[in-house]
Amino acid sequence: MRYITFALAKGRLAKKSLELFEQIGITCEEMKDEKTRKLIFVNEELGYRFFLAKANDVPTYVEYGAADIGIVGKDTILEEGRALYEVYDLGIGKCRMCVCGPASARECLENHELIRVATKYPNIAKDYFYNKKHQTVEIIKLNGSIELAPIVGLSEVIVDIVETGATLRENGLEVLEEVCPLSARMVVNQVSMKMENERITGIINDLRKLLGGN
Ligand code: PRP
Repeated sequence: MRYITFALAKGRLAKKSLELFEQIGITCEEMKDEKTRKLIFVNEELGYRFFLAKANDVPTYVEYGAADIGIVGKDTILEEGRALYEVYDLGIGKCRMCVCGPASARECLENHELIRVATKYPNIAKDYFYNKKHQTVEIIKLNGSIELAPIVGLSEVIVDIVETGATLRENGLEVLEEVCPLSARMVVNQVSMKMENERITGIINDLRKLLGGN
């Protein structure tokens, strides 16, 4: 039996997804040791391997088949645009991709002005403004603390993830438009889906039984 390899996005999602997998009998004791410097974890008995990667890299590992299965946010899937199958919505890590800014920026959006948009997600922002809204904007790529941009005058608005809305509120910003809802998804390599169909659909069905949904 060959290993089924899982790539998990490091951080909050990894912890929650491992808890879900545990409930369907997919366990990996080695991975619970928070002090370990190991990069790859194996459950020999069940034929599973797990590794943690930066969220943005998870779709890459899955597209190339270095991982059969990936657990990653819909935001990363949309941004990376890799060739893979998105097979299941785990319903964890729920949040929204939004256009945010000060209330005063509402008018710039309504009038389709040529504004600056700061974001960690340039592809999602481009798709939203160019293809959905047909508004020409200048997109500025940032790598974190995106909420700073409109405060210090780098951009009029941002495209970013909103979960509780606390970061926006504490910085005098608000949601101006919603781009799309987000949550963690299971993605599968296209070849693995054929070669290991039985084992992979078995995992999806077990998740469905546990969580429902599609
Ligand atoms: C994310 C996101 C927002 C914040 C939203 O940032 O970019 O800044 O969380 O959460 P809230 O609505 O509950 O306040 P993250 O913590 O991932 O860090 P980042 O600044 O590096 O993007």
